Amino acid sequence: MTAREPHTDTAASTAPSDPAPRPHASAEEVQAARSDTKLAQVLYHDWEAETYDDKWSISYDQRCIDYARGRFDAVAGSEALPYGRALELGCGTGFFLLNLMQSGVAATGSVTDLSPGMVKVALRNAENLGLDVDGRVADAETIPYEDDTFDLVVGHAVLHHIPDVEQSLREVLRVLKPGGRFVFAGEPTTVGNFYARWLGRLTWEATTRTTRLPFLADWRRPQQELDESSRAAALEAVVDLHTFDPTELENIAVAAGADDVQAKTEEFAAALLGWPVRTFEAAVPAEKLGWGWARFAFNGWKSLSWLDENVLHHVVPRGYFYNVMITGTKPDTGAL
Ligand SMILES: C[S@@+](CC[C@H](N)C(=O)[O-])C[C@H]1O[C@@H](n2cnc3c(N)ncnc32)[C@H](O)[C@@H]1O
Repeated sequence: MTAREPHTDTAASTAPSDPAPRPHASAEEVQAARSDTKLAQVLYHDWEAETYDDKWSISYDQRCIDYARGRFDAVAGSEALPYGRALELGCGTGFFLLNLMQSGVAATGSVTDLSPGMVKVALRNAENLGLDVDGRVADAETIPYEDDTFDLVVGHAVLHHIPDVEQSLREVLRVLKPGGRFVFAGEPTTVGNFYARWLGRLTWEATTRTTRLPFLADWRRPQQELDESSRAAALEAVVDLHTFDPTELENIAVAAGADDVQAKTEEFAAALLGWPVRTFEAAVPAEKLGWGWARFAFNGWKSLSWLDENVLHHVVPRGYFYNVMITGTKPDTGAL
C-alpha cells in the first residue's frame, strides 16, 4: 500500500493541502451530516475544538499527565520506555499524546485527527508545552504516513468513532515499525455505555425539570444553551458508532494482524458516579459550581477508582466496567 509523505514542518502548522477548520456549520451541512458519519465527525469536533479542553477538564499539568500515563502503563507497562517517534490518531486537542510525551513516553510525536479544528488546537497546545510535535488532518482508516514509520501509535476515545475499526488497526500496524506497539484507551464497553447513557439521561431530565422551579431559577441555564446542548447530543448519536465487548475488541486486533494483544477494563463504581456528575455539570450554569464541587467530583472519582481497581476488579466481570483499553504489537518477522 502506498502512503503520502509525512509532514515534517514546525509544530504550529499542518500540511498545506490539509483542509481548514469549519467551526460554524450551516444548517444544510448539519442536515447532510445526519447521513454522513465522517462529515458529522468533522462538523461536531470542529465546532467544539476551541472549548473542548474546558468542557472535559483537560489540562497539561500533573493531574492529566498522571491520568494519561496511568492508562498507558495499565495496559502496556513501562518496560519499553521511552519510545522514539509516536503517532496519535483522533488526537482531539492532544490530551493523550502530549501528556504521555510530558511523562517521558516518547521523544517526538505526530498528532492526527479528521477534524482540522482539533489538529490546530493540538498543535497550539504542543507548541505552548515546547514539545517536538508535527500534525496532519488524517482519517484513521487511511493514515497518511509511510510504512514502518512509528515506534508507538496511541489513541484515546477514538476507536468507537471509526466506521471500520479492523481496517484502522491494519493501518496502525502498517505505519508501525516491526515490534512497535499500539495503545488505545478510553473506549466505551457495551454494558458500560448502556448504564452511562441511562444515568446521563435521567440526570439531565431530573436537573432540567427541577431547575424550572421558580426558587431554583438561578440554577437554570438559558433555554438557548440547553437547546444547543440537546442538538449537540443529537449529533453525538451520529458520531458515536461503536461500543466494545473486551474480548471482541481483542479479536478485531488479532484479525488485523497484531501480536501480544491484550484488552483491559476499568471504572465501574467510578463511572456510576462520573456520568451523573458530568451531566449535572453540563445542565447547570458553570459559575454555580465552585472549587468545593470540583474537589468532591475529583476526590469521589479517585476513591471509587481505587475501589474498582483493588476490590471490584476481582468480583465484577470485565465487560461491566465502563472503559476498555487495548494494546498489541506489530509482528517482528525479522526476529524469527
Ligand atoms: C471523543 S474525541 C477524543 C479526542 C481526544 N483523543 C481525547 O481523548 O480528548 C474523538 C476524536 O476522534 C476524531 N475522529 C473521529 N473519527 C475519526 C477518524 N475516522 N479518523 C481520525 N480521527 C477521527 C474526532 O474528530 C475527535 O477529535
